[in-house]
Amino acid sequence: MALFGGWGMLAAFLALLCCRGSGVKAFQGPEHLMVGSGESQFINCTASCTDPKKLVLETHLNKTLLESQAQWKLFKVANISKDEKLLCSFTCGGRQETKVFIVTVFYPPKQVLLTLWPTSVAAGTLFTIECRVPAVAPLEGLTVTLLRGTEILYIQTFVGTAPSPQDAVVSHNTTAHREDGHHNFSCEAQMDLRSRGGGLVHRVSDPQRLEVKEPEPNTQMVIIIAVLIVLLLVFVTFVFLCFVFSQKWHRGRTGYYAVHDHWRRLIGSHRAQTL
Ligand SMILES: *[C@@H]1O[C@H](CO)[C@@H](O)[C@H](O)[C@H]1NC(C)=O
Ligand SMILES: *[C@@H]1O[C@H](CO)[C@@H](O)[C@H](O)[C@H]1NC(C)=O
Ligand SMILES: *[C@@H]1O[C@H](CO)[C@@H](O)[C@H](O)[C@H]1NC(C)=O
Ligand SMILES: *[C@@H]1O[C@H](CO)[C@@H](O)[C@H](O)[C@H]1NC(C)=O
Ligand SMILES: *[C@@H]1O[C@H](CO)[C@@H](O)[C@H](O)[C@H]1NC(C)=O
Repeated sequence: MALFGGWGMLAAFLALLCCRGSGVKAFQGPEHLMVGSGESQFINCTASCTDPKKLVLETHLNKTLLESQAQWKLFKVANISKDEKLLCSFTCGGRQETKVFIVTVFYPPKQVLLTLWPTSVAAGTLFTIECRVPAVAPLEGLTVTLLRGTEILYIQTFVGTAPSPQDAVVSHNTTAHREDGHHNFSCEAQMDLRSRGGGLVHRVSDPQRLEVKEPEPNTQMVIIIAVLIVLLLVFVTFVFLCFVFSQKWHRGRTGYYAVHDHWRRLIGSHRAQTL
């Protein structure tokens, strides 16, 4: 068994070597293409010989023949909504050959939604900039940039090769400056799939305005001011009462002196008597 297995493997290995060697000209690796979900893809079916027979593109999708020459045919495959393998087949010298196109669907950024929260802030306080890019895939090629005018505030790149679309969200907290009210905030989403046989898709959100108010007095200040006002009132009242009492006291004092003088006079006469 083991011996047969070994021989089988060797035979397979030799067969692979042999066929690779003899088919070098005809053999072509699959071509990888990336297409936005629901979009069309041009496929150029080119035969390896100059006079191919039965040059066809095999696919269950709708295709249109756009152009045709002896050695090639250009097709447009419409509305590709999931990953597909397209086969281009032809007969060269009585032998059938195929060329494989592997088409991977991606979900480019179609919308870029920017939210400032709150939309009206006092200078010097924090506010949140949130940017949402709905239903994108793969996340790997995506870069989201938050901008104030043309100035870059924040950049985030993503990781993840999941083929199913998902929302990419970037949130950034920053302090409001007085001059922020004179600029537009925006968010830019860029999907770069050039390294994977795709293209470059770039989208920008609608501009958003931030209303910057003068800083509000904080509660501490309000309390301090209230306390100062109360102290001032107490002081004024005190001064007023002092005034009123001093008037009364003055009148009282004249009475007191009258009594006092009387006693002084008495004491004086007594002293005079004793002396
Ligand atoms: C298709 O490919 C062949 C071979 O590469 C090329 O000569 C031809 O110009 C291509 N056709 C179009 C329409 O691009
Ligand atoms: C192909 O196109 C026709 C007409 O444009 C349409 O009725 C049909 O549903 C399409 N087929 C596929 C598989 O998209
Ligand atoms: C594209 O394909 C999707 C899913 O296969 C289908 O629902 C839709 O009707 C197609 N659109 C066109 C214009 O053929
Ligand atoms: C921004 O601030 C909010 C509350 O003000 C907080 O919930 C959120 O986690 C902060 N986000 C970041 C990215 O720091
Ligand atoms: C901000 O955006 C609005 C609307 O697009 C535009 O009218 C305005 O000129 C922009 N302001 C600045 C300072 O770029």
